[in-house]
Amino acid sequence: MTILVTGGAGYIGSHTCIELVKAGYDIVVADNFVNSCMEAVVRTRKLCGVDFPFEEIDLCDYAATDALFDKYHIDAIIHFAGLKAVGESTRIPIEYYKNNLDSALSLLAAMKKHDVKNFIFSSSATVYGADAPVPYNEATPVSRSASSPYGNTKLMIEYILKDTVKAIPGFNAVLLRYFNPVGAHESGEIGEDPTGIPNNLMPYVAKVAVGKLDMVHIFGNDYPTPDGTCLRDYIHVVDLAKGHVAALKKIQQNCGLFVCNLGTGKGTSVLEMVKAFSKSCGHELPYEFAPRREGDLPAFWADPAFARDELGWVAEKGIQEMCDDVWHWQSKNPNGYK
Ligand code: NAD
Ligand code: UD1
Repeated sequence: MTILVTGGAGYIGSHTCIELVKAGYDIVVADNFVNSCMEAVVRTRKLCGVDFPFEEIDLCDYAATDALFDKYHIDAIIHFAGLKAVGESTRIPIEYYKNNLDSALSLLAAMKKHDVKNFIFSSSATVYGADAPVPYNEATPVSRSASSPYGNTKLMIEYILKDTVKAIPGFNAVLLRYFNPVGAHESGEIGEDPTGIPNNLMPYVAKVAVGKLDMVHIFGNDYPTPDGTCLRDYIHVVDLAKGHVAALKKIQQNCGLFVCNLGTGKGTSVLEMVKAFSKSCGHELPYEFAPRREGDLPAFWADPAFARDELGWVAEKGIQEMCDDVWHWQSKNPNGYK
């Protein structure tokens, strides 16, 4: 069975390629390097032990995407490709809507033409919105509008896929709602490599640990949580990658529409994260409390029961292992892939 992995040069995609190959799938990777580089593909191939085909294409290019389906016999798509920076999406929403919606639509058009009916989509916990009860459960209706244009692209693509399942007999769509992916491959060869100053907690903390940034700014310490800092459901990227292998097994059973959280079910505070990372890197990381970041929710985590029951998948790695693996990657590659 051949899987087209879009965005497979990126953070989650590269880790998923390894788990797919391990599980015996053939893969074809497509990426335009808007947020990644060839070095990630080179290292992923090495870790896979397979020279899998790679195509440098912009998936918004309908003809190029269609040509991909002419060139390879594809059985299923895992669609990671997309722009993902929440703050940036508020500044350039048109680019976000265009890239994320067009890439999904061009894939669906090519799939329709080539009679390919299996689509796994990288969605996000952000679709639950600010008012959903915690822990987030798949039975909770999604928000009418997410808190950012980025989140809205996820909501819109979810709707497009739901309508596609209704319209095309035999079409299967798995919507995977990720919580907060962190960590890196145990080899320290691949990991998260954001450009510029990171917005997300874990890559920021890693850059402080390696001396590239001065100190961690903890956004808010007056939240109604045990230590006053926000709680999130951090999930190791390798566990997340394995969730995609489980989703592929589900899609092979002709699941139709299948919506599932990928999280651990545990909330960890920002302060706990900083302390765990200090242990990993062997020195206390400097931090200071800063004002709350606009739009942040105090606490959310996944109800992971549905994934356990329906996919037979459970996240296995804990916070310390996530921090150890990020430290391994960051200390081995202080400049990322450069
Ligand atoms: P990433 O930026 O590392 O990977 C995305 C990849 O897609 C990049 O390699 C990029 O170059 C590629 N890409 C973007 N637009 C493209 C296009 N038009 N054509 C071809 N390639 C294109 O991001 P990631 O963290 O690996 O996230 C993967 C997916 O998971 C994204 O859709 C993201 O929105 C979603 N997601 C991520 C998180 C997270 O915290 N990382 C959380 C929830 C959901
Ligand atoms: C963000 C996105 C979300 C996306 C997720 C995973 C926002 C509003 N949401 O979630 O859509 O799915 O990333 O990539 O951006 N923090 C600090 N100091 C920092 C950075 C972060 O204290 O320098 C805190 C934040 O206030 C938050 C926690 O750390 O409480 C986690 O932040 P972050 O890693 O950005 O993830 P989310 O905001 O949960």
